[in-house]
Amino acid sequence: LLSQMGPDALLTMILRKHPSQRSAEDLEVIYEELLHVKAVAHLSTSVRKELAAVLVFETHGKAGTVLFSQGDKGNSWYIIWKGSVNVITHGKGLVAKLREGEDFGQLALLNDAPRAATIILREDNCHFLRVDKQDYIRILKDVEANTVRLEEHGHTVLVLEKSTTDSTDQGGAGGSSKYTVMSGTPEKILEHLLEKVKLDTNGNDTIDSCVGDFLLTHKIFMASSQLCPALQHQYPLMFTGSELEKADYSLAARQKVVKLLGQWVLLYGRLLKDDPVALDFLEVRPPPLPGQTHPMGQWPESENGNHSLRAIYGELSCLPLLIMSRVSVVFFTLVLYEISRPDNIPITLMLPVNTSVQEVLSAVVKPGADYVLVKMNSMGDRAQLKLDSSAVSVGLGLNERLFMCTSSQVERLRPLKEQQGPEQGTADALEQMCSKDVASQLTHYDWELFTAMHEVELIYYVFGRSKFPGATTANLQRFVRRFNEVQYWVATEVCLCQDLMKRAALLKKFVKIASVLKEQRNLNSFFAVMFGLSNSAVQRLYKTWERIPSKTKRIYCAYERLMDPSRNHRAYRLAVAKLSPPYIPFMPLLLKDMTFIHEGNKNYKDKLVNFEKMVSQTKLFVHHKCGSCTKLINFNVKALVSFASDIKCISIFCSG
Ligand code: CMP
Repeated sequence: LLSQMGPDALLTMILRKHPSQRSAEDLEVIYEELLHVKAVAHLSTSVRKELAAVLVFETHGKAGTVLFSQGDKGNSWYIIWKGSVNVITHGKGLVAKLREGEDFGQLALLNDAPRAATIILREDNCHFLRVDKQDYIRILKDVEANTVRLEEHGHTVLVLEKSTTDSTDQGGAGGSSKYTVMSGTPEKILEHLLEKVKLDTNGNDTIDSCVGDFLLTHKIFMASSQLCPALQHQYPLMFTGSELEKADYSLAARQKVVKLLGQWVLLYGRLLKDDPVALDFLEVRPPPLPGQTHPMGQWPESENGNHSLRAIYGELSCLPLLIMSRVSVVFFTLVLYEISRPDNIPITLMLPVNTSVQEVLSAVVKPGADYVLVKMNSMGDRAQLKLDSSAVSVGLGLNERLFMCTSSQVERLRPLKEQQGPEQGTADALEQMCSKDVASQLTHYDWELFTAMHEVELIYYVFGRSKFPGATTANLQRFVRRFNEVQYWVATEVCLCQDLMKRAALLKKFVKIASVLKEQRNLNSFFAVMFGLSNSAVQRLYKTWERIPSKTKRIYCAYERLMDPSRNHRAYRLAVAKLSPPYIPFMPLLLKDMTFIHEGNKNYKDKLVNFEKMVSQTKLFVHHKCGSCTKLINFNVKALVSFASDIKCISIFCSG
């Protein structure tokens, strides 16, 4: 009988056998056949042999059969042996057709995520080779192609790559996800990240850090005006069917969107006020009465008894409360504006760091008066500031000052005497102060500036603030300015000290201060002090350097090695790698690294968002403040909701 069978029938018969009953020859036949199957042809001999031993033959008779649905748990990987299938996703419908030799169903297995699409048979009598999850993981996880590409309507929409780094990177929950987003269309990346949001009924839900990366960088590739409709699109308005499964799916999908919104609010907080589209979208009106339409869609009558739906509704309704409270916290740090007038009478004002020139002027003179704001350096070079420029005080050079006058007076302005720099140092006073106290004060102030800065300011700064309407980098500029202040303060103090002995004592003191700053993990001021000491005006004071104790000199030399820029600041990077957060990074180097990545990598690759670039940018700074991003990412919405129900708590939470 066997000899009379055609090769196809023989193969089918072998495949139909239970894997444990296949003989060595059977396996050989299957193995040979796999050489011609597109999905596995590229795999090594040993992998194909292992596959031959576990493949299960699965047939389905009727076109229209649903093999599995989006949102289902993934149990197997499929290769199409005969026939074809449709790939269907919620909200988009048919996105791709897969044919003989192609495979599907690997995503859910690789990322331990729910099925990303529904698979429906396109024709009668389809045959599949199925590999169950355990076997798939054992045999293929480590050898399967490094790149997974998803297509929709013939165009690539998402490229995932096996991550070679550890789970702390994009991985998230316990390193379970092995494939990370390299590039994709903004909508597909969002859809994929939402799928990966885990909902844990115990409230221990975690969110992948790449969701935070997405939220921090979304404006580069997806303005809020695109993000909001895309989120709305991902939020199923109605239950499309009555089956419990679909209801479950919609419920989970809604919860995921809500979770992401919660992260968004937490991440941006006060800055959302700059984003009218986002604010409008997140604004949630009072609970709808029965039969009324909720902004996110209609709540079906049948859900009245469903407690979990109520729970989500609770989550939604707490959002505006959160936003209000987060946004109403002091919007921007107040900074001192010192403005001189032609008559030399100074004006001092406390204004938010981000104030525009127009607002500064109207705080001082009547609207419509012919006054202008000018910045001038010690050489007398002046520039009239545009009315819509903002944060001008933090953008001033160290020897620049602000002046206010009528436009006809601009030419008559002269630099202030103080702009020439101080004539006397404060070495005597410094001598009285303990190095530790000085360092602590420096760190205290730096920490204040550092925490006032929002991570997204770094993104705006590196990608070009003008590209993001309403974006600010004021707090970042303020922090960078501080670095220069400290650096020049050190050099100036040393140079102004006339007495050789005192100067040597001052040098020693600054080395000691640097040492305490390093201990305090304030690398920014540590470097500022060291830069001050390495200023050529200080370096050439040979006699002074000769007088400092050799121990101090040794410490100084060791610190100098940390500043060595060779091999891309290797010494510094090694030292930092040993630090645990929180620490204050050496800001100029952080900005340099970000700029380097920015300039060396395009924002788009083959018309897809280069998400890998976005992740590598945020990875550079996300770990410095332990109290910020990383913590937020793992914040759980349920805890937030219980917070939100208590107004008192919320204000503590926000001010904290
Ligand atoms: P998985 O998520 O396990 O189940 C659905 C499968 O459809 C998915 O793995 C992919 O293998 C396949 N697929 C093909 N194209 C797409 C697409 N554009 N979006 C989502 N899934 C797709």
